[in-house]
Amino acid sequence: MKKTVRDIDVKGKKVIERCDFNVPMKDGQITDDTRIRASLPTINYLLENGAALILMSHLGRPKGEPKMEFSLGPVAERLSEYLKRDVVFLSSPTVVDEAVKKAAADLQPGQVMLLENVRFRKEETDNGEGFAKELADLAEIYVNDAFGTAHRAHASTAGIAAFLPAVSGFLIEKELKFLGEAVEKPERPFVGIMGGSKVGDKIGVIRSLLEKVDTLLIGGGMMYTFYKAKGWETGTSILDQDNIDLAKQLLTEAEEKKVRLLLPEDVVCADAFENDAPSDVYPADAMPKDRMGLDIGPKTCETYGRIIREAGTVVWNGPVGVFEMPAFAEGTRKVAEAMAACPGVTIIGGGDSAAAVTAFGLADKMSHISTGGGASLEFLEGKTLPGVAALQDK
Ligand code: 3PG
Repeated sequence: MKKTVRDIDVKGKKVIERCDFNVPMKDGQITDDTRIRASLPTINYLLENGAALILMSHLGRPKGEPKMEFSLGPVAERLSEYLKRDVVFLSSPTVVDEAVKKAAADLQPGQVMLLENVRFRKEETDNGEGFAKELADLAEIYVNDAFGTAHRAHASTAGIAAFLPAVSGFLIEKELKFLGEAVEKPERPFVGIMGGSKVGDKIGVIRSLLEKVDTLLIGGGMMYTFYKAKGWETGTSILDQDNIDLAKQLLTEAEEKKVRLLLPEDVVCADAFENDAPSDVYPADAMPKDRMGLDIGPKTCETYGRIIREAGTVVWNGPVGVFEMPAFAEGTRKVAEAMAACPGVTIIGGGDSAAAVTAFGLADKMSHISTGGGASLEFLEGKTLPGVAALQDK
C-alpha cells in the first residue's frame, strides 16, 4: 500500500502535484474535461488543508519543444472555473525559470499555480535528473495523482520522487483499488471484454486476463484476426496480419485454461468504411469476400449482453465496433447497456470504451471508469507502474 495525502501533514507546506491534464482538444478548446474533474478531489483536499499547491502535467506530445498549441493555458482557465479561485499560470518555454521560481516561493496556503506543459522539456520524457530536481526544488512534498501517466517513468512522474517525500492522491488510490480488486479478488463470474483493432497491442492484457476470468468476450477490429486464425473468411476487414498465429495460440491457451473465450457469432458487414455504406448481417464463418466487418451482429449482442448482465465483475477495454459511426455503434451500445444493467462490479479500462460509455450517457451507471488508457492496460497486465512504484509505502 502506498502512502496517500491523508498520511501526511500538508498545512503551510509547498506541495507539487503531478496531474494528468492530457485532455482532448480541438481548435484550442477542451472537448472532454473528465480528467480535470477527476483530479479535483485531491486538489481541493490539499487546498482546504492549507497547502500552497503547484500543479504540473503534460498535454499531448510536443517532443521536448515549447510548442504553444500544447500549452496548458486552457486547462488553467478550466481549473480556475472548477476551483472557484485564480490559478496562477506562468507560461514558460522552459517550464521552470526565475519568474516561476519566484511565483512558487511567494505562493500562500490555499493558493494554486499551474506550470507549463512539462513535455516542453526533453528531459521530462528522458526522466532527466536535473529537470526532476528543478521541479522538486519548487516544493517540499510531492503528490502524484496522474494515474493516466503512471505507466511512464518520466521526470515529473517518477524521477522527482527521489528528492521529496512522495505520496499518492485520491485518484491513483481509487484507480488502484478498483482495478486491483477487480483482478485480484473478483466477484464471479468474472467476465472480460476485449475490443480495439490490434491483438498485438493487447496481447499482454489478454494473456493476463486468461489467468483470471471465467469468460473472455472478443469484439472490435481484433475479432477478424481471431476469425482468420480459425480459417474463416474476413473479407476486406481490418486484419492484424502479423498476429494471426498469436491469435491461434490464445485460442489454444484459453482452451487449456478452461476459460470460455467467445468470438462474435455474427457480424455487420458493409461495402465501405463509411457510415452510410450499405450493410447486412452475416454469420461469423460466412463473411463475403468483398465486404468489411464493422460491428458485432444482433445475435452476438444478445449472447454477450446476457453474459455481461449475469457477471459478478466485468472489465471492458476497447469498443466492439466502429462506434464513432452511428450505423456501426449498436454493438458497443449494447455492451455498454448490458454493463449498466449488471448488478456486479463494472469497470471500464479507459480510452475509447470510456469515451463510448460517456457518449451513450451511461457513465454514472458504471462502478468505475478508469482515467488511464495505456496505464490501466499495463496495470491489468500485471506490470509495475513506475509512477506508483516511486511513491512511499505505508
Ligand atoms: C494518456 O493519455 O494515455 C496519458 O496521458 C499518457 O500520454 P502519453 O501516451 O502521451 O504518454
